[in-house]
Amino acid sequence: MNTPVLNKYLASARPSATYKVMDRVAALRAADVEVISLCAGEPDFDTPLHIRAAAMAAINNGHTRYTQVAGLKALREAVADKFRRENGLNVQWTDTLVCSGGKQVIFNALAATLNEGDEVIIPAPYWVSYPEIVQLCGGKSIVLPCGPGSGFKLTAAQLAAAITPQTRWLILNSPSNPSGAVYQRAELQALAEVLLANPQVLVLSDDIYEHLLFDGQVFHTLAQVEARLQPRILTMNGVSKSYAMTGWRIGYATGPRWLLDAMEKLQGQQTSGACSISQHAALAALTGPQDFISRSRGVFENRRDMMVRLLNEMPGLSCIKPTGAFYAFACCEALLGKRSPAGKLLQTDEDVAIALLTEASVAVVHGSAFGLGPYLRIAYALDDASLRKACAAIRTFCNTVMATNG
Ligand SMILES: Cc1ncc(COP(=O)(O)O)c(C=O)c1O
Repeated sequence: MNTPVLNKYLASARPSATYKVMDRVAALRAADVEVISLCAGEPDFDTPLHIRAAAMAAINNGHTRYTQVAGLKALREAVADKFRRENGLNVQWTDTLVCSGGKQVIFNALAATLNEGDEVIIPAPYWVSYPEIVQLCGGKSIVLPCGPGSGFKLTAAQLAAAITPQTRWLILNSPSNPSGAVYQRAELQALAEVLLANPQVLVLSDDIYEHLLFDGQVFHTLAQVEARLQPRILTMNGVSKSYAMTGWRIGYATGPRWLLDAMEKLQGQQTSGACSISQHAALAALTGPQDFISRSRGVFENRRDMMVRLLNEMPGLSCIKPTGAFYAFACCEALLGKRSPAGKLLQTDEDVAIALLTEASVAVVHGSAFGLGPYLRIAYALDDASLRKACAAIRTFCNTVMATNG
């Protein structure tokens, strides 16, 4: 057989860096090595009972058939109600779309709109999938490094300098994976001013971590902050992180009708409607008791406090206090150029992450996988005892690296 030919966009896309680390963890565990994984992008809680019960009732009541491509009307009404209630957006159920995960919302949106050479502005550090989805859709990622000086956030000046006539999209994610950074209202307003002057730019607002917001902050989304931009914003959310439902695969969005129609058309030839049972579960999540959200937020906030304190006590690591999501983004620059306890030269943040895994049995993801090094993304979606144990192992590792090479 001739060399297999792949689609040119797929051929140059990279597999998810986080899945790659998770594969390494699985291989070590298969060899009976005990590894603490701080690389999961999902809450460690079970889906609340009433949501699971709704799914079981859906099965038993025969809701096991295809649904409308755009989602069950009842769920779309609940989604519209959520956007009105929590985000102050003037949304009717017909202005919504339900997809198989937030990831499919993003894929649908970019695949429906990007043409060869179209540019997508992505502030870094970014969620690993954004540039890869852009690549798969034939677009060009314009990555803008946003370091600790701006709290890992895009500034209006950076945005203004990056926009060209080819700019089709800006992707905003707050609270952010991987930095935990949260955009304040004034920061969004400043970005909005730039966007108002550039009518060719659409905005994808990835609000998936909306409810994981600490220190009593109030969540702001761009469409609410600047209503004049609403016809150009796709506001995306989902049940994965808020309700511990990552495996159920339900995401949703609101945005301009022409865009939702195009996304629905694409989805209709791809996955069709999302899983009927998961849609019933998501309906229960959005319309049922909401106390799970504040409980999980409280747990994550306590863990955030503990992790930031422990990480900042370690020689060689430093960490800004994140105000959302469940990640710490720790700078590991001071470890570079030194040797690991086993004698490996640590030249990059990936070297540090690999040495931590193989020598300290703690899995984290290197920041450069998210477009900004030298950092380590440390997910604290794990019980306190395991987090303490992981931190003790990281501390021993750092102590040795700094003492032997310092
Ligand atoms: C920033 C961000 N956006 C979107 C998603 C997609 O979530 P899902 O497809 O589970 O809804 C994730 C998942 O890790 C994420 O971290």
